[in-house]
Amino acid sequence: MPDLTVGGAGVFRNYLASDAQASVVDDLRDVVAAAPLFSPETRWGKAMSVRMTSAGKYGWFSDRRGYRYEPRHPSGVDWPPVPESILAIWHGVTGLERGPDCCLVNFYGEGARMGLHQDKDEADFNWPVVSVSLGDDGLFRIGGAERKGSTQSLWLSSGDVLVLGGEARLAYHGVDRIRFGTSQLLNEGGRINLTMRVVD
Ligand code: SIN
Ligand code: MN
Repeated sequence: MPDLTVGGAGVFRNYLASDAQASVVDDLRDVVAAAPLFSPETRWGKAMSVRMTSAGKYGWFSDRRGYRYEPRHPSGVDWPPVPESILAIWHGVTGLERGPDCCLVNFYGEGARMGLHQDKDEADFNWPVVSVSLGDDGLFRIGGAERKGSTQSLWLSSGDVLVLGGEARLAYHGVDRIRFGTSQLLNEGGRINLTMRVVD
């Protein structure tokens, strides 16, 4: 059971203890070695402030042609498999037998943010989205399924896990800012967000 719900999203506070966070970060080093972080362009041609990569069958990608899933990293290599330590989080909070097709890895350095958006590039919105926060605190904002509606904000800390399902699956959400240097998890600071999704 989540500790609280915000805008219909379930929030599991400190779902990962610090040793579990450290092993996920270790596994992510292998993911990033195989599929290096890159700065995608928005559909308006502006570089995003967040750097990203993916693991799984598909990776999320963006350029002037729009938002979509791609079967390969921009370098041409397959996306590496989603590490077991991360799949365990998905299964643990959703209770689902099927796994995600994509684990998007977002890295927020100092000053990075993410504008309000919906996760809607997937085929079936009945599957939830699971989001894992690691490293520095991030100010997460969530609204409803309409861009214009009211929003609520909460600080997400390292080890927190969010489930966007049901009513909240198509909720607008984003990250207004991070508090750089609030966590010791990453040697050089910053925040990592993992977003797991069923794509097909
Ligand atoms: C996202 O929606 O892709 C990222 C959300 C977050 O960083 O918490
Ligand atoms: Mn999102």
